[in-house]
Amino acid sequence: MSSVSPIQQPRRVKVRFIGPLAITLAFIMFVFAVAIYGIETRIRDRDLAERSAAVVRLFAQKLDKDNNKMMATLRAMMINQAMEDAFRLRDRAALARQGGELFRSLNAEHKITHLYFIRPELVSLYRFHSPTVFNDAIQRVTLQQARESQKPAHGLELGPMGTLTLRLVAPWRKDGELLGYLEIGEEIEHLLDEIRLSLGIDLLVLVDKHFLTLDQWQRGLDLMQRTGDWGRFGSHAVLAQTTGELPAKLDERLLQQLRDGGTAEISDLGRSIHLASVPIIDAGKRHLGDLVVMRDTTALESMFQWSMISVILISLLAASGVLGVFYLALDRVERDYRRQHDLEHQLLRLDSEHRRILQIEKLSALGTMVGGIAHQLNNPLVGVVNLAQLAEREADDPARTRELLREIRSAGEDCHAFVKRMLGFSKISCFESRPTPMAELIEDTVLLFRQAESRHVPVEVKLPEEPVVLTVDPVLIRHALFNLLVNAAQATADGEGGIVISLERGEDKERNLPGWTLAVTDHGRGMSPEAMEKIFVPFYTTRSDGTGLGLPVVQHVALLHDGQVTVVSEPRHGTRFAIWLPDSV
Ligand SMILES: Nc1ncnc2c1ncn2[C@@H]1O[C@H](COP(=O)(O)OP(=O)(O)O)[C@@H](O)[C@H]1O
Ligand SMILES: [Mg+2]
Repeated sequence: MSSVSPIQQPRRVKVRFIGPLAITLAFIMFVFAVAIYGIETRIRDRDLAERSAAVVRLFAQKLDKDNNKMMATLRAMMINQAMEDAFRLRDRAALARQGGELFRSLNAEHKITHLYFIRPELVSLYRFHSPTVFNDAIQRVTLQQARESQKPAHGLELGPMGTLTLRLVAPWRKDGELLGYLEIGEEIEHLLDEIRLSLGIDLLVLVDKHFLTLDQWQRGLDLMQRTGDWGRFGSHAVLAQTTGELPAKLDERLLQQLRDGGTAEISDLGRSIHLASVPIIDAGKRHLGDLVVMRDTTALESMFQWSMISVILISLLAASGVLGVFYLALDRVERDYRRQHDLEHQLLRLDSEHRRILQIEKLSALGTMVGGIAHQLNNPLVGVVNLAQLAEREADDPARTRELLREIRSAGEDCHAFVKRMLGFSKISCFESRPTPMAELIEDTVLLFRQAESRHVPVEVKLPEEPVVLTVDPVLIRHALFNLLVNAAQATADGEGGIVISLERGEDKERNLPGWTLAVTDHGRGMSPEAMEKIFVPFYTTRSDGTGLGLPVVQHVALLHDGQVTVVSEPRHGTRFAIWLPDSV
């Protein structure tokens, strides 16, 4: 007997999947956050770089614009006849009269800080901004350039006292004659204020100390009441700044980093500051110093942080949503899995129980069979013993003894007949199949049946139109069909209706095999469901003279042909026994 084999415990689906899923999601989220961080950083850096580039552009534009403005001023002066006359006559007083008012208004409204009349030999004639200094030779680059090219020249120039001035020098020519030069200039501080206002950034003008001396620088600060810082950095002096206090972290090392083309991010008093720098080149193409751009990125930074936090929060939310959905789905899968597992377990148990029951049934069938055989043999043997005793006692009466001996013989013959039937039953297992025309086989069997059956029960045969030839053992099939016919006749009372034998196409649905169904239908008493459960058990019979071997033989024959027997029956309405045989055996 087999026992239920132990089934593996159902695996914990959720635990197996949720862990790796969570790790995968966390990884995806991490990659996502890193990607977003990268993108945001790039956007921010590009924004800052664009601002720095905008400063450079704006600075150049402002210089250009102011240059044009100053050029227009000089042109207006050159067509002033009175001014020309005064210049020609080197009349300083007349020049002061003619241009004094103009210079004051240029200074007040357009921040013009310098205006000169210069003789052709490059000696100053009159300085509106400093009238007491004159007759000095001027060697500035812009003037040299204007003299050499005899065209207007302009550019930034660093004064010895640390002033950074945008200067424009134009030769004054009249009818091919060079009258001299006009020079006009403005200090760049006011440009810085305009840039600061329009771009919202702070600027710092640094000048290399090589181009300055501390004495002159100090004089400049005192004379022009400028602000400036000589000592803040080692190599550079702070010429101008738009912010009150410079960030503490802005030191020489950081400046060098900016000068090398890099940018920097520093925090100062709770603010984030982005730094970049642009070189300041003077009219003589010298690298005077640097314009440091400082941008307060605190708002941008906090926006960046917020957007990172929201990205992380949203990803977390989405990930937990996905995890939740998966958890629920896996929960369902796990439940189904467990149910299926339980079912399998139950099936296995049922199967093993079924096999046990079959075993028991076999044993009990064997018991019944042995009981049946004993019973069948016992009655005539008891009769033989009793009759022999009687014959012994009545041995004096020869007629009586003969009669008793006859009965003894008859009982012995019964035993012999029974043993013969048993032998016949056991022989069935060896069969020889051959192609057998079924119509003939059925006809022969019906004939045999008519001879054996004393009552006349009508038999109808329904065959298919084409001849059917099946490879079967004709002796066994005839025997089985004969048994079914006899049973059908025995179940049918007189006048209850006829028996129908039919042969038709049919398939074994379970095995999906084509074949034929040979059926015997009667309209007799039928069977109860309880009786139907036992009819194939050897020796089960409801008839006093029955053997209970007819149907077991039928079933055995069907099984030998790889077929099967089915039965449908209804009490008082009739029974249909069908032997299904496959096409080829
Ligand atoms: N066509 C049928 N209609 C009703 N009962 C039947 C039919 N065929 C068989 N049976 C029942 O099945 C029992 C067993 O049949 P069987 O094995 O042929 O043995 P026996 O004919 O010797 O009784 C019968 O005693 C009868 O009760
Ligand atoms: Mg029978």
